[in-house]
Amino acid sequence: MSIKTELLKKIKEKSLQMGIIGLGYVGLPLATVFAEAGYHVTGFDLDAHKVEAVNRGSSYIPDVPSGKLKTLVDSGHVIATMDFSILKGMDAVSICVPTPLRKTGDPDMSFILSATEEVAQYMHRGMIIVLESSTYPGTTREVLLPKLGEEKGLKVGEDWFLGFSPERVDPGRQDYTTLNTPKVVGGITPVCAEVAAAWYAGAIQKIHVVSSAETAEMAKLLENTFRMINIGLVNEMAIMCERMGVDVWEVIDAAATKPFGFMKFTPGPGLGGHCIPIDPLYLSWKMKAYHFNARFIELASEINANMPRYVVGRILEAMNDRGKILKGAHCLVLGAAYKPDIDDIRESPALEVIEQLQNKGALVEFHDPYIPKLQTNDDAEMRSVPDLMTAVRAADVVVIVTNHKVYDYKAILAEARFIFDSRNALGKLGVDNPKVVKL
Ligand SMILES: NC(=O)c1ccc[n+]([C@@H]2O[C@H](COP(=O)([O-])OP(=O)(O)OC[C@H]3O[C@@H](n4cnc5c(N)ncnc54)[C@H](O)[C@@H]3O)[C@@H](O)[C@H]2O)c1
Repeated sequence: MSIKTELLKKIKEKSLQMGIIGLGYVGLPLATVFAEAGYHVTGFDLDAHKVEAVNRGSSYIPDVPSGKLKTLVDSGHVIATMDFSILKGMDAVSICVPTPLRKTGDPDMSFILSATEEVAQYMHRGMIIVLESSTYPGTTREVLLPKLGEEKGLKVGEDWFLGFSPERVDPGRQDYTTLNTPKVVGGITPVCAEVAAAWYAGAIQKIHVVSSAETAEMAKLLENTFRMINIGLVNEMAIMCERMGVDVWEVIDAAATKPFGFMKFTPGPGLGGHCIPIDPLYLSWKMKAYHFNARFIELASEINANMPRYVVGRILEAMNDRGKILKGAHCLVLGAAYKPDIDDIRESPALEVIEQLQNKGALVEFHDPYIPKLQTNDDAEMRSVPDLMTAVRAADVVVIVTNHKVYDYKAILAEARFIFDSRNALGKLGVDNPKVVKL
């Protein structure tokens, strides 16, 4: 039996031993989806707390309920470890490690590199390796292929199989999850794609195979760049509307009544999260090697990056209009997560808004039901105020940065002295209300 046939048989019989490297927002949901489909999944992570929590059946990812995880752990379908030598016994490994930016704005490939080194140590014939981390096109072929195959004398597409499959998880989303979001799969060779797709099809509802790993890598960057640029566009639209005294939110709602040819994006205090502000910069970085300047990306990035400053400038003006100064004023930032209803603060614009307000001398506090404490850009620790409504009453300005659904906006509006609403969280409540200034 060929290596490929043997693997396909194991996939079908669910006897495939599979590992997931990186048990974060991407890796843990993926592990549970495969485990629920009947596979035995070993999760590898460097974080002892995560490994211990998974083995207790206690989830730290809101999209994975602890009850579900515990059942899968108790039945032996999910196990977590820091012992990478267990990779020796794995038939298939998915790599879901972070891909942040360095302080200089360049890709930080250190996590992909270290995970690749770990796999390389235990690489053997008959392995399927799929990279899921968002990264620049070419990573799978240029970084993983030499270390895992060529240096080991293993022939890709025959002795082992290598592919890229971008994760598309949208944390907090209920309708589209890892299970039912179509999965794009590209391989280093067509056989690699076929084997990797067969593996993922064992658990995920719809697989879309593309002709190369680079196509799959680029598809992910197109998705995220599309969002980033459209957000940049509406952010600039918000700035233009303000100059003309037009309500940008009303404009967007009106445009969104068009049933075709328009997709609604909303402005805000800046981009956040692990993907949208970062991934397009992986592409523009890579394009520099081709002497190509990715102008759309650079422009949108500049507009989006300036939004926290713009918001603070608007607060300053609005306070001035009220005969108040920001210096010494009590500011309450509502919502610190990078988007509503989640507990993720990575790259959140709230951090920059807080920093800019503090730079202007404001006395800043924050409240977020999902973020008990945060580390400011200056490395100071801030804790969410214990009593929301007391803080609302005490604030000279309440700045809505993240529009969590759990907030009682009516009550907040009733008690606040002045609100700057950067998300239109107040909706109709905020229209023609002298207490409210919107982005
Ligand atoms: N979070 C999202 O919404 C999302 C969506 C789509 C794609 N992605 C992409 O998926 C990748 C993972 O993102 P995430 O949000 O799951 O990150 P995360 O930080 O939540 O989790 C990554 C995990 O990898 C572990 N890790 C790091 N290096 C490791 C190593 N060498 N060996 C073992 N474990 C290691 C970390 O300890 C962490 O637990 C990133 O490239 C990201 O851009 C994320």
